[in-house]
Amino acid sequence: MLENMIEEILIDEKTLKNRVKELGESITAAYDEDDDIVLVCILRGGFIFMADLARQVKLPVACDFMDVTSYEGTTSTGNVRIIKDLEESIEGKHVILVEDIIDTGLTLKHVISMLETRKPKSIKVCTLLDKPARRSVKEVEADWNGFEIPNKFVIGYGLDYDEKYRNLPYIFVPKPELYEDN
Ligand code: IMP
Ligand code: MG
Repeated sequence: MLENMIEEILIDEKTLKNRVKELGESITAAYDEDDDIVLVCILRGGFIFMADLARQVKLPVACDFMDVTSYEGTTSTGNVRIIKDLEESIEGKHVILVEDIIDTGLTLKHVISMLETRKPKSIKVCTLLDKPARRSVKEVEADWNGFEIPNKFVIGYGLDYDEKYRNLPYIFVPKPELYEDN
């Protein structure tokens, strides 16, 4: 049973919903109606957050998707490879990178430096979760941050363990048995 592997629900559905709405309002206030804005979802972890966030941004934004890989098991390796690139050019556009979590910051650092070479007008970062205790790249900061969380491995609302559990509507800390059984 899914419920049996939950150690603790860290952020429940209602809290997520309220915070995502606030983030959307803040993003809406930061740009003008005629700005050319693209929300860039970092797949796969960002897809649930991006879908909810996009609906709370009251501006005519484009949505694009990028899949990079940098993560195996529960620790980050720092190797970032593009698996799926953006469909549209970002030249001259305001880019908002939408991430599930900033952990070490390595993924984001690599993605930002790749995208900067494409001459966007600006690049900002909106992350749902931030684990500041784990940051190895100090210069990586989110412009919008949903929740600062402790140094625990978390799953749900887009975040996976071994590609599963992204579909759970809350953020939770799994019981250690979840890894031990694998
Ligand atoms: P970073 O490069 O260390 O910042 O790692 C970023 C990526 O690692 C995130 O986009 C997530 O996909 C994954 N990640 C980091 N921490 C967690 C976690 O606690 N649960 C699930 N995935 C995580
Ligand atoms: Mg992941």
